[in-house]
Amino acid sequence: MAGEANAPHYSVLFKETLAGLNLTPQGRYIDGTLGAGGHSYGILQATAPTGRLLGLDADTVALGIAAERLKEFGDRARLVQSNFAQLAEVAKQEDFVPVQGVVLDLGLSSMQLDDPSRGFSFQGDGPLDMRFGSVQGKLTAAIIVNAWPEERLAKLFYELGEEPQGRRFARAIVEARKQRRFETTGQLASLLAKVGGRPAGRDKRPIHPATRVFQALRMEVNHELERLAEGLAGAVEVLAPGGRLAVISFHSLEDRVVKRFMQHEASDKIVPEGGPPGLSFPKERRLTIITKKPLEANSAELAENRRSRSAKLRVAEKL
Ligand SMILES: C[S@@+](CC[C@H](N)C(=O)[O-])C[C@H]1O[C@@H](n2cnc3c(N)ncnc32)[C@H](O)[C@@H]1O
Repeated sequence: MAGEANAPHYSVLFKETLAGLNLTPQGRYIDGTLGAGGHSYGILQATAPTGRLLGLDADTVALGIAAERLKEFGDRARLVQSNFAQLAEVAKQEDFVPVQGVVLDLGLSSMQLDDPSRGFSFQGDGPLDMRFGSVQGKLTAAIIVNAWPEERLAKLFYELGEEPQGRRFARAIVEARKQRRFETTGQLASLLAKVGGRPAGRDKRPIHPATRVFQALRMEVNHELERLAEGLAGAVEVLAPGGRLAVISFHSLEDRVVKRFMQHEASDKIVPEGGPPGLSFPKERRLTIITKKPLEANSAELAENRRSRSAKLRVAEKL
């Protein structure tokens, strides 16, 4: 167990994130991804007795767990169910602007991923849905798997899942659904296991062949990259000068969105894509980048928590 004593689960890059936020006791902070409340707990503990926190999570179950975890801090912690894409609106509604720091720890927690009834897991059997949050869209994993053409599936698995066998998996799904609609995660996972075998993961430990396809479906169903871009923009809007933005990502596409966003906000010019060499337009700089390279888990954390192997923390400061 890392993070802090009594944490109900492991908070990735815990110390590094708190250090990156440059916490001050009178500060106000937003955690856009409460989860089990681990990072929030650390923020409230480090900013005692007057620091305050607004915590958001799109998921009601996570919100309930975080509320229990943070109840010892009383009204220093305010929790709201919301997608972090609405971070700025919620902060304004709650009269919680400006803030000294915003943290986003992306993706889903292992407690969500490992619960078969939530339908994110290929290890158990649940409905092929994968939507999370209160304001749910109409798109489900079942719609994608049963209705999308083969080419579109292959592109999704390759791009969002970074799955080298994306084309093969797409073909197998399209063949199989001619016989029977996919209704459950178990049905899909067993087809992918049959077609894919058990390839080695990046860290040489085998991963289930369904891992990357499930990730791609979840990211598409919840429009995760689009929501991330909106959340980053909202965070910069509510930060006070000198306030810090700390973002932990687990996926190279997410990290790229964070990196490009920070680079764009740290630059004083816009270079139009495809324009003549040297053409640029002036713009306002709003951030300075603190982590020139993203911080990653050290060997002790890697040994303790496998999920931290792909974690990257980027920190920037509002000018
Ligand atoms: C990795 S967990 C956070 C763990 C937390 N930092 C901790 O230490 O306990 C990510 C959480 O973010 C939530 N989440 C993911 N995307 C979200 C979004 N767009 N808006 C709000 N919550 C989101 C998930 O429901 C999940 O509870």
